[in-house]
Parts: sequence; C-alpha cells; structure tokens
Amino acid sequence: MERRAVFVLLGLLYLAVGTLVKAVTYEGPPKEILKGANWQITCKNLKDDEQVRWTRNGETLELELSSGQLTVKPGDGFSTLSATQARDSHDGNYKCTSDSADSFHLMIHYDVKIRVLTPKDVLPLVLECVNKSDKAVWMKENTSLSTALTGNEDIIKINNETGSLEILKDKKEVYGNYTCKVDNSTIKYKVVPKPIAFLAESTSVVEGEKLHLVCHAKEPSPGARISWTFGDQNYTESKDRVKISNSVETGIYGAVLNVENIEMTDRGNVICRMSYNWSDPNLAEHSSEAETFLRVKDKLAALWPFLGICVEVVVLCAIILVYEKKRNKAELEESDTDQSPDTHNALEPISLDEPLECYISLHEPLSTDLPISSPTLQSTKSVHFEPTSDNKPTPNKESDVRQRK
Ligand SMILES: *[C@@H]1O[C@H](CO)[C@@H](O)[C@H](O)[C@H]1NC(C)=O
Ligand SMILES: *[C@@H]1O[C@H](CO)[C@@H](O)[C@H](O)[C@H]1NC(C)=O
Ligand SMILES: *[C@@H]1O[C@H](CO)[C@@H](O)[C@H](O)[C@H]1NC(C)=O
Ligand SMILES: *[C@@H]1O[C@H](CO)[C@@H](O)[C@H](O)[C@H]1NC(C)=O
Ligand SMILES: *[C@@H]1O[C@H](CO)[C@@H](O)[C@H](O)[C@H]1NC(C)=O
Ligand SMILES: *[C@@H]1O[C@H](CO)[C@@H](O)[C@H](O)[C@H]1NC(C)=O
Ligand SMILES: *[C@@H]1O[C@H](CO)[C@@H](O)[C@H](O)[C@H]1NC(C)=O
Repeated sequence: MERRAVFVLLGLLYLAVGTLVKAVTYEGPPKEILKGANWQITCKNLKDDEQVRWTRNGETLELELSSGQLTVKPGDGFSTLSATQARDSHDGNYKCTSDSADSFHLMIHYDVKIRVLTPKDVLPLVLECVNKSDKAVWMKENTSLSTALTGNEDIIKINNETGSLEILKDKKEVYGNYTCKVDNSTIKYKVVPKPIAFLAESTSVVEGEKLHLVCHAKEPSPGARISWTFGDQNYTESKDRVKISNSVETGIYGAVLNVENIEMTDRGNVICRMSYNWSDPNLAEHSSEAETFLRVKDKLAALWPFLGICVEVVVLCAIILVYEKKRNKAELEESDTDQSPDTHNALEPISLDEPLECYISLHEPLSTDLPISSPTLQSTKSVHFEPTSDNKPTPNKESDVRQRK
C-alpha cells in the first residue's frame, strides 16, 4: 500500500513538473512565403540554460548563418531566426533546440509551378494565368509562343475566355518554361517529363562505416523531391542516424542520404522515390523509384587479408633469421679454427682480475660495429666469461692454446 502511495505521489509530482516546464513554441509566417520575400521564425519559452541551436530538417545551418543568408537574434527566453530573401532551400522544418519536440514548417512558394506531362495524362493540360484575363500574354523561353513552337503550333491552344494555356499533345517540344504576364504580374510554369530516379544496383559498406548515397535523375530534374526508404522506414528529412540533405549540384531536394555506423542488420534494399509534388493526384504516373541493394561487409572481412600479409611477413622474417643464425654459426666455427690476428684479443678469455682491454683496428674507418658489440665477442664471452682459478678456459681449449702461441 505504502509503495503504491509513493508511486502515485511521484506521478503527481511528475505531472506538476511537466505542466510547469513548458516546451518551446514557435511563431512564424502563417502561410507559405513567396520566394524572395523576407521571413522570420521565433522560438519562445526557452529556459535560461537551454542551448539554442537552429536546425532545418535536422541539419545544421552554420554555413547559411556564417554567410549572412540567415541571422539569429537572441533574446530573453526567445530566439529569432530570419532571412531577408526567401530561397527554395529555406523550405523545411525548423527547430531551435535539439530536444524540441515541436518544429516549425516553413513553406516557400515556388515562383515556378512545375507540371508533369506524361503520355498517360489526360489532355489538355491546363496552365492557368493570374487573373483569368484575356489580356494574358504567354511566352515560352522568353519568346513568343509562335516563335518557340514553330512547326508545332498545334500542340497548344490559348483559351480565349480564361486566358489559360492548354497543352493538347504530348510531344517533347512542349517541355520547357512558360510565362504568363498580365499587367504587372507574372506566373511561371515549367512543363517537364516524369523524373526518372537512378541508383546503382548494389552498394557495399563495411560494418561501422558510413553509407553515402545520392539519388540521381536520368534527365536533369531541378525542383524534384526525394523520399527515401531505409530499413522499412520512409524518410524525407533527417531523423536519428539517417541524415538527408539536398543536392546543390542537381537542385534535387533530399537527394543525399547519409547513414552513420552501418550495422549488419541494415543489409537490404534502400529505395529513393522521386517526385516534383508528393500531393500530386497522379503521383503514381508522375514519380519513379530506384533501388539499391545494400551489402554490409564484415569488419573482419577486411582484416583477414591484412592478417594474411602480416603472417607472411612474420614467416619470411623467421626464415631469414634462422638462416642468418645458421650462417653466423657456420662462420663462427670457421673463424674458431682459423683465427686472424685482428680478432685475437676478442677471443682472449677474460678474467676478473685483469682489466678488460679492447683493440680497435684503425685501418678502417671507425664504425659502430666495434668488437665489443660484435656477435663474435658476445658469443665467445658467453662461453668464456667465467672466473677460473688458473685463468684458463675450459672449452675451446685447443684454439686458445693455439692463440697463445
Ligand atoms: C482581374 O482583372 C480585372 C480586369 O482584367 C481587374 O478588374 C481585377 O481587379 C483583377 N483581379 C485581381 C484579383 O487582380
Ligand atoms: C527572360 O528575360 C528576362 C528579362 O526580360 C530575364 O531576366 C530572364 O533571365 C530571361 N530568362 C531566360 C530563361 O532567358
Ligand atoms: C476567341 O473567341 C472568339 C469568340 O468568342 C472567336 O471569334 C475568336 O476566333 C477566338 N479567338 C481565338 C484566337 O481562338
Ligand atoms: C528553363 O529555364 C531554366 C532556367 O530557369 C533553364 O535552365 C532551362 O534550360 C529552361 N528550359 C528549357 C527547355 O529551355
Ligand atoms: C503596376 O504596378 C505599379 C506599382 O508597382 C502600379 O503603380 C501600377 O498601377 C500597376 N499597373 C497595373 C496595370 O496594375
Ligand atoms: C513508404 O512509402 C511507400 C510508398 O509511398 C509506401 O508504400 C510504404 O507503405 C511506406 N512505408 C512506411 C513504413 O510508411
Ligand atoms: C502539388 O499538388 C497539389 C494537388 O494537385 C497542388 O494543390 C499543389 O499546388 C501542388 N504543389 C506544387 C508546388 O505544385
């Protein structure tokens, strides 16, 4: 009973603390921001000791902050992130602290509307102008439609009443940039074919290393967006060890996947899906996916060949050493029977009463290879270095006798 009471009390305390400590909240633009406009997001209810570190989709903003593209203004319990010019890349989920459960979704309104046209689309594809006005002036690639589509005039039609441009046929000449001008306002469209995602068939990563994948498009597809499937989970933004970032090179959002610390269990298919608009009603027709098989190599798999080489080296060294020792022994035996005067003193048995004398032959330049350290001396010493009463060595008697002559 007492135990239960303690638990209940603890639970109440937890609830009380939970309501007292408010989580951070965000304030920002209510709707999507037009590209080029300014914006700011404020995060409130920051605790005094809370470290403010703004991120977008889990990615640090350091580069944009240091270049002045974004600025952070700290305040008492709040922090404001702002930009003077909204860019496509600003689109995403913002957080001001790493443990903030909430986030603020900033939507950038693209000044270019992308329309995908595939053979399966129901035609006509209608591009609407600003104000359904008959004053609409349509252009393609900055020139008049008749110039841009010479010889293919039949693939488009301007609706007389609405001012909309209607695409009647699916031909590759129709792809491109369109603008509609009415008075001061301009609407931009880009008509594109279905994006084709591409990944290598298989990818190998050594266990514990980083997986780095870039989802490519077969044709340039700037503005396309990627959704990744890694380990039975879908990702469009960074989460935990899965880091997603944009490809600056191709202008494809979320095209770069990085996963730290690959484990054996990560083995399997990694999928990237490419689409211009994930809320497109014809998503199946207008998106494509590519898949790569992730092989995780055993950390030790890389070690075995290395160990093999090590063993080889050791064995070779051993063979050389044994051979050298044998050869030295043979040489020693040879020199024992045929002494030259130079090595005479080295073979003199040493008594403890006598001072140790060394003779260095000076007909050759002095080297570190002094007789003291010569293996010949050492081996002789080990045999002879024993005080004997009559100062006469026991082994090697024959040669010593010969030397004293
Ligand atoms: C649409 O165009 C008409 C004239 O063409 C104009 O009177 C009207 O104000 C415009 N509406 C908007 C919302 O711009
Ligand atoms: C179209 O012309 C405008 C100016 O008239 C220019 O700013 C723009 O860059 C041109 N666009 C292209 C794709 O050539
Ligand atoms: C526009 O519509 C009028 C009738 O509403 C028609 O007479 C005219 O030919 C049409 N113009 C074009 C370019 O289709
Ligand atoms: C459309 O405009 C972009 C630049 O805004 C350009 O890179 C692209 O080549 C244009 N498309 C066509 C079909 O000319
Ligand atoms: C175009 O915009 C300017 C100001 O930017 C305004 O004074 C002018 O009336 C506008 N023209 C039309 C036709 O709406
Ligand atoms: C991931 O996305 C694919 C395609 O949209 C869908 O079929 C699948 O059910 C999703 N998986 C999860 C775990 O949401
Ligand atoms: C995406 O598709 C939806 C549904 O058709 C549409 O309302 C929205 O404007 C599209 N978004 C873009 C950026 O084109």
